[in-house]
Amino acid sequence: MAGVKRKVLVIGIGAGDPDYLTVQAIDAMNRASVFFIPDKGAGKGDLARVREEICARFVRRSYRTVPFAMPARRAAGDAYEAAVCDWHDAMAQVYGRLLREELDEGGCGAFLVWGDPSLYDSTMRILDRLNETGGLDLDYEVIPGITAVQALAARHRVALNTIGQAVAITTGRRLAEGFPGEADSVVVMLDAGDGLRSVQEDADIWWGANIGTADEVLVAGRLSDVAGDIERTKAETRAKHGWVMDTYLLRRRPGRSGG
Ligand SMILES: C[S@@+](CC[C@H](N)C(=O)[O-])C[C@H]1O[C@@H](n2cnc3c(N)ncnc32)[C@H](O)[C@@H]1O
Repeated sequence: MAGVKRKVLVIGIGAGDPDYLTVQAIDAMNRASVFFIPDKGAGKGDLARVREEICARFVRRSYRTVPFAMPARRAAGDAYEAAVCDWHDAMAQVYGRLLREELDEGGCGAFLVWGDPSLYDSTMRILDRLNETGGLDLDYEVIPGITAVQALAARHRVALNTIGQAVAITTGRRLAEGFPGEADSVVVMLDAGDGLRSVQEDADIWWGANIGTADEVLVAGRLSDVAGDIERTKAETRAKHGWVMDTYLLRRRPGRSGG
């Protein structure tokens, strides 16, 4: 007879402020007895701590947390997708072991995903991979959270798109290859710095780092005026906390291109 499925909840917790948690997320957390807390390596202990604090504040049943080490991703060079694919394989093995060893059949566990699971997060892809190849019959649900993109727009009181136009969401790595074609507005995440430095367009920027935390910093203005300020602020924030996460909206100024 087939075993009873394990239930996994993939819960978006918002991108920094515990008050971003939705009522649906809190209800879901109270269905789980085990929370898997990733350790993302040097300088990212704060992120694990936020997850622990969220559990302590919102879970009203007995539960335990299970920390686990995230495998490191090898430096990708040009073979970015291959490196990510290998990394997902390694993650699937870690998740498979965790779920087998730490969650009973019929039990309910949760991954607390930063922001929303739909954006630059691999949890769903890894669980799908486990269901396809890992011999684990998981039943998983996704509970949406407030992304860094939404938090940025709210803090700057800015709409992401201009009227009737497209908005692109991309990474610093992709932005460094050029401003996305069709959209006049682009939201950029995961920028180590090269993306913003590469922009040649005359554009406005709405930038935020560590949004929703006590160390939030926001800068807005014409890119040519504020680029230096952003670079300096980002370096200072990283130096102070050991990590920095920034997101920004760039919008081409009408009728202009080139520096
Ligand atoms: C791996 S992605 C995860 C995105 C997340 N799933 C979301 O929905 O926001 C990490 C990137 O999200 C952005 N980010 C996450 N939290 C942020 C915050 N509090 N402030 C600014 N940017 C943030 C940064 O661009 C960072 O490099």
